[in-house]
Order: sequence, then C-alpha cells, then structure tokens
Amino acid sequence: MISALAPGDTGESAVPSSLVARKAVMSDIAPVIELINAYAAKGIMLPRTEFELSENIRDFSVIYSGRTLVGCGALHFYSPTVGEVRSLAVHPEFKSNGIGRLLVEALATEAEQYLLDAIWAFTYVPEFFARLGFSEVERGELPLKAWKDCLRCPKFQCCDEIAVMRVLRPEHWSPGRAGQQAESLVQIEGDTVVLLPVIQPRT
Ligand SMILES: CC(C)(COP(=O)(O)OP(=O)(O)OC[C@H]1O[C@@H](n2cnc3c(N)ncnc32)[C@H](O)[C@@H]1OP(=O)(O)O)[C@@H](O)C(=O)NCCC(=O)NCCS
Repeated sequence: MISALAPGDTGESAVPSSLVARKAVMSDIAPVIELINAYAAKGIMLPRTEFELSENIRDFSVIYSGRTLVGCGALHFYSPTVGEVRSLAVHPEFKSNGIGRLLVEALATEAEQYLLDAIWAFTYVPEFFARLGFSEVERGELPLKAWKDCLRCPKFQCCDEIAVMRVLRPEHWSPGRAGQQAESLVQIEGDTVVLLPVIQPRT
C-alpha cells in the first residue's frame, strides 16, 4: 500500500511532507537498479550494475512512498570544487509531483555541506534542470566525466546530452571559470591512457 502518493497523481500540489529524501543504504540497491535500468533500456540513462551501485551507494539519495521507491539520484565528486548530479530518476508513475526537484535540492544541500562550489549534470531534460537553477554550459567546460563514464557509453561518439551547471557558492566562482582547463590529468582506464581536462581552483 502506498501511503503518501498514489501512482498517477498529478503535480497540482506540493510534494507530500511525508516524502523525504534520505541517504541510500545497501537494501536500496536492488530497487535503484530496477528503476535506473528501466530507463537505461530506453536509452535515456546509463545502465548501472550491482557492483557499481555497491561501490557508489554513498553517493545516492532515495525517496520512498510507502514501500515503493519513487526516486533516486546521486552526487558524485570529481574534484574538490565540483560534483555531478547523476543517476537521477523518478518512477514513471510518479513524475510531475516534485520528486525530481526534492532529490536535486537534497543533492545540492549535500554538495553545499561538502563545500562544493558548483554541481553539474549531463542531461536530455535541460528544461527540468533550468527550473532548478541550472544553466547550460559548453560540455568541454566540464571535468572528467566525459572522458570517464562516457568511455563505456554506447553514444560516446555521438553524444547528444546537454551539460548544465548550478553555481552554489558564487563568492568562490569567477565568471568563465568553468572554461579554465589549463591543466590536464592522466587517468588509466584499463590499458587506455586518457587525458582529462580539470577545472582550475581559483587562486
Ligand atoms: C527528469 C525527471 C527526473 C523529472 O522528475 P519529476 O519528479 O517529474 O520533476 P518535478 O516534478 O520535480 O519537476 C520540477 C520542475 O521541472 C519541470 N519539469 C519536469 N520535467 C520536465 C521536462 N521533462 N521538461 C520540462 N520541464 C520539466 C516541472 O514542470 C517542474 O516545474 P515547476 O518549477 O513549475 O514546478 C524525471 O522526469 C525522470 O526521471 N526522467 C527520466 C530519467 C531522466 O531523464 N533523468 C535525468 C537524467 S540527468
């Protein structure tokens, strides 16, 4: 029985106060994989494995309505100053109820607690992120991700996702800073050596 929200409820009202985002634990892995991989099967998200989820479970926050997982999202750190919002998914029957917003705001709060200056995402729904204070940026301005996760993405050569960013601490962020990629970092992916652009900390 779903206590707070019924499938198909429309977004006419605010999220019920009983719906809260909390940090994920191991027992969330199976439902999170089911939710993400259902979207991955449609080419909307990257698929995730049980191994990856176990390794990164501390990145994840989840929202339940009763026993039903209605949303999940992750905050992944890439540098001391920026992190990525990823694996964001709302159960198809529970969209447009403010759950996506609740998740992103929880991840943004977490990012602020870790003193990140900005968070970013790759997405097919920039309009959603725009409603949450993100702006589109050149994908080349973002660190690491494109050369890491994307290496195993089937769309690596023809990616059509849009990069969006939300600055959390403007006082630590100078205009155009995201574009500063004066240094590179070498990462070993199996036998592959990859050059990764990094965002320079402000001096
Ligand atoms: C994108 C997604 C997370 C949105 O979650 P949601 O719970 O339906 O979104 P919310 O109800 O919190 O919407 C927040 C705001 O964004 C808007 N919005 C949501 N989805 C939107 C879309 N596809 N296009 C434009 N605006 C959208 C809402 O109208 C709302 O606007 P408001 O400021 O007027 O209230 C959800 O549709 C989803 O899981 N999609 C499939 C997976 C995916 O694409 N994930 C993103 C990977 S980066």
